[in-house]
Amino acid sequence: MKEIKRIAVSTGGGDCPGLNAVIRAVVKSSVNLGWEVIGIQKGFEGLLHTDMAKSLHPRDVAGILNIGGTILGTTNRGNPFQLEVKVGNKTVTKDVSNDVVKGFKKLKLDALIAIGGDGTLKIARDLAMKGIPIIGVPKTIDNDLEATVITFGFDTAVSNATDALDKLQSTAESHERTMVVEVMGRYAGWIALNSGIAGGADVILIPEIPFDIEKVCRKIKERYKEPKKYGIVVVAEAAKMKEGKMFTKECKDKGRQEPLLGGVAQYVATEIHDRTGVETRSMVLGHLQRGGTPTTFDRLVATRFGCAAVRLVQKGEFGRMVCLRPPEVLSVTLEEAVSKMKSVPLNCDSIVSARQMGISFGD
Ligand code: F6P
Repeated sequence: MKEIKRIAVSTGGGDCPGLNAVIRAVVKSSVNLGWEVIGIQKGFEGLLHTDMAKSLHPRDVAGILNIGGTILGTTNRGNPFQLEVKVGNKTVTKDVSNDVVKGFKKLKLDALIAIGGDGTLKIARDLAMKGIPIIGVPKTIDNDLEATVITFGFDTAVSNATDALDKLQSTAESHERTMVVEVMGRYAGWIALNSGIAGGADVILIPEIPFDIEKVCRKIKERYKEPKKYGIVVVAEAAKMKEGKMFTKECKDKGRQEPLLGGVAQYVATEIHDRTGVETRSMVLGHLQRGGTPTTFDRLVATRFGCAAVRLVQKGEFGRMVCLRPPEVLSVTLEEAVSKMKSVPLNCDSIVSARQMGISFGD
C-alpha cells in the first residue's frame, strides 16, 4: 500500500450545515497522522484550476465547527464528465474528466475526500473508476440517500423549518388565517414530514403521497370548526397533485442539470382561499433552511464522518462512502451509495403516528 503523505478535501453540490465540521475533522485528524491536507475550491472544478488549491492547517479550521456553509466553496454545476464550455458563440458539453485526473496528479495527492450529495458522489464513483483514490462523505439536507440512515444537515434543516412553523403559528392564530409553508427536500418528503409533525401542522403534503386539493380543503374546513381557528399546511417542494403535476420554476443557471422545484405552496394557498373562503397566505422557506449554525447532532455526525473518511484513507479502502448505521459509522461502495434514493416509506412510523394525530396528507 502506498504511503499517504498528502490528501485533499472538497465540497460539492448545495451547501449544507455541517460541511465545515467535516473539513475540520479531516484536517485535524489527518495532521495528527502527519499528513498534509489540501483544500480544493468549489468541488471538482478546483481540480481543473489547481492554482486555487491551498494547504489547510489546523489554524485554518479553528472556530469553524459551528459555522454553516463551507470554507471551500461549492457548486452544483460543473460535472467534469459533462462540462458546458463555450466554443465560439456556442455552448457545448465536453468530458474534461481526464483533466481532473491530471489536476489530481499535478497536486501530488495520494487521496481525495469528496463531500457531497448524490450528484457529487456519482462523479466521485466515476473518477474512482479513472484511478483517483477517492472517499465520499454524504451530505444533504434532503436526507435522501438510502445507504446512510441520516445525512448531516438534515437535522438543522428540520429545526430551521420547525422554528419557522412555530413563528407562523402566532400570526396565523391572530388573523385566523391558514399559512401554507413550502419546504425543501427535493424528491423526498423527509423535511416536510418531520418539521410538519414537530411544528404541529394540520396538513403535510409530500412527494410520496400525491394529494387531492379537495381533501386538503376538507381538512382545513374541519380545522376551522375547532375553537382556535387557524391552519398550518407544510408542503414539500416536490409534492405532486394526484393528477401528477409537480411545480417547477424557471432557472437561468448555466449547466444546471436538475430542475428548480417550487411554486406548489402558492398553488395550494390560492386553492384553499378560493374553495373554502379562508384567508390564506403562502411562504417559501427556501435557503433559510440550509443556513446558520449546525445542530449538535449534525456537528457530531459530520465530525464522525470526517474522521471515518480519514480512517478509510489510512486503510487504503478507496471507492467507498462513509455512512451512519447507528451506533456505527460504516462504509459502502460508491456504487451502492448512489444506487438508491431514500423516499419516505408510506407505512413508516412517522406517517402512521401523524395520521393517528389527525394530520392529513391530502389523500
Ligand atoms: O439538495 C438540496 C437542496 O436544497 C434541495 O432541497 C433543493 O431542491 C435544491 O437544493 C435547491 O437548489 P439551489 O440551492 O441550487 O437553489
